[in-house]
Amino acid sequence: MARIAVIPGDGAGIEVMNAALPVLEALDRRHGIGLQLERFDFGAERYLRTGESLPPGQIDIFRRDFDAILFGAVGDPRVKGQVHAREILLGLRFGLDLYINFRPCRLLSERLSPLKGKGRTEIDFVVFRENTEGQYNGLGGVFKKGTPDELAVSEEINTRKGVERIIRAAFSWARDNGRTRVALADKSNAIPAHELWLRTFREIAAEYPEIEARHQYVDAVALQLVTNPEAYQVIVTTNLFGDILTDLGAGLTGGLGLAASANLNPESTPLFEPVHGSAPDIAGQGIVNPGAMLLTSALMLRELGFGDAASRLEAAVEQALQDGACTRDVGGTLSTEEAAWAVLSRMETS
Ligand code: NAI
Ligand code: MG
Repeated sequence: MARIAVIPGDGAGIEVMNAALPVLEALDRRHGIGLQLERFDFGAERYLRTGESLPPGQIDIFRRDFDAILFGAVGDPRVKGQVHAREILLGLRFGLDLYINFRPCRLLSERLSPLKGKGRTEIDFVVFRENTEGQYNGLGGVFKKGTPDELAVSEEINTRKGVERIIRAAFSWARDNGRTRVALADKSNAIPAHELWLRTFREIAAEYPEIEARHQYVDAVALQLVTNPEAYQVIVTTNLFGDILTDLGAGLTGGLGLAASANLNPESTPLFEPVHGSAPDIAGQGIVNPGAMLLTSALMLRELGFGDAASRLEAAVEQALQDGACTRDVGGTLSTEEAAWAVLSRMETS
């Protein structure tokens, strides 16, 4: 049995969640998982109505009573500064101390490769992005705003504990999943604080002699991901660099419509979400790709211990893509709902 908090959020988040849930329910029946899906309406609508993003105590409830959170996306043009989105998403990531942002970048169909001569065997890596520190902490501010002397400062936080635990997570995942190489992407040549990353990386690497540890500056990684993506199996990096490198990763694997992610801490309640946002430019037209949400659901199932169900779902998404039974962003003509049904029907015949 698994108790899941379902938070569709806003816009495209709601659409992809509505499309993905019937697929999850079908898997649940077939594999006897015992999913208990409970829906929460946190998002712009509720925020505009009540002024509340997350009710007090909600994070403790999630931590105590739920096995996972399945999240769509938040963001609404009507909310100034996207306050609700930050409070909900960062509130959950920080409140649950979900320090691992796990983002697989795997090409599922040759026809989606933007790189000449690079196909499915070449484009297949995962990024371990630090998720609770770095530059995304709100520390800093602006001084003498609007004057020629304006000064804007934003602090980057790197703690030994924070750096060590994400690096350890990357090596340990590599070992447990048959990978042989881990790369650190930092900028220790220009940002002295990143020496902490490099030193910690070397220390942890020594505990995993069977894994090849390679240190590279993040700009070099960005270049090589395009020219030689097969060099990478596992990349561990800071919050900011991980944000950027995983968009590059999404670009290599079919775009945001297919990019899945998990926010993890083995001691807490994990949160699973597609990488994309609420896509206000296309939301409401029935054309949003449900693929990222489905692949995210597969990550959740695997993490909860239902690896067979996860693999079945991933194989069906892959097959639908191969068949061109998908939305227009990945070369098909189907609607959101039809694309999810295409996956469902391939799951049932496999
Ligand atoms: P976005 O990811 O929503 O959209 C970027 C581009 O990708 C758009 O052209 C969109 O149409 C396309 N796209 C996104 N998801 C797609 C899908 N499933 N299928 C097909 N095309 C897709 O990012 P954007 O436009 O920067 O942000 C929109 C809103 O979402 C903002 O309010 C932002 O704050 C929020 N956001 C929320 C995130 C989250 O909830 N985790 C992550 C990123 C943005
Ligand atoms: Mg991003």
